[in-house]
Amino acid sequence: LGSMIQYLDTIDSTQKVAHQLAQEGCPEGTIVVAEEQTNGRGRLTRHWHSPKFTGIWMSIVLRPKLPPFKAPQFTLITAVAVVQAIEQLCDLQPEIKWPNDILIKGKKVTGILTELQADSDKIHSIIIGIGINVNQTREDFPEELHSVATSIAIENGGKLSRSILIQQILANLEKYYQIYLEKGFAPLKLLWESYAISIGKDIIARTVNEVIAGKAIGISDEGVLKIQDKNGVIHDIYSADIEVGK
Ligand code: BTN
Repeated sequence: LGSMIQYLDTIDSTQKVAHQLAQEGCPEGTIVVAEEQTNGRGRLTRHWHSPKFTGIWMSIVLRPKLPPFKAPQFTLITAVAVVQAIEQLCDLQPEIKWPNDILIKGKKVTGILTELQADSDKIHSIIIGIGINVNQTREDFPEELHSVATSIAIENGGKLSRSILIQQILANLEKYYQIYLEKGFAPLKLLWESYAISIGKDIIARTVNEVIAGKAIGISDEGVLKIQDKNGVIHDIYSADIEVGK
């Protein structure tokens, strides 16, 4: 990963640039990283706050020869790579909230956005966007995010080099991508579950058209969340916002 790196000062969205490079046939492992995004995108067309010099705003282009339904696994693999990188460099224990949030002490520190360029049966490119709040102070966050977002610096009590964190994430992701290509998702699924906060807990999943409450019992081999409701019925959740209970 990182054989080609596009480093930008200010850009609307690294995700948008990565999509364009992917379409133009850039090498697999191309990275787009920016100091600031003016129009950072989150899941479900939400805005992603990406102020200058404080965070990691980056997108990675991969080209696994796989059908599109495997794509959610890449969100999970990336989450493991990021959680471990934070653990390796800081005295913190981040946790993963399915599908794409990394939390420290219950507040969001990282979001992952996995998007595809694909036919119905074949992925052309997978664009993994990673947004990490690294060195923001509390005051750097807009008021409305204070209760839900945090940064590594706030939780770690000091700044962390963003370039070292990027290197560690890429090293981890490269390792796990290799394991995935050789052995499939099974070994990584176990690792993911060891960091996941939602598994085994009562949760509420809000999908675009329904609300499902029950116990999160695990994820499938494809990365789909399984919830068992109070009648014992198991629901497969492909995309939702999750509220985790006790
Ligand atoms: C989410 O939690 O909703 C996902 C947030 C993903 C943000 C990253 S920052 C780098 C890349 N470029 C974007 O515009 N979004 C992703």
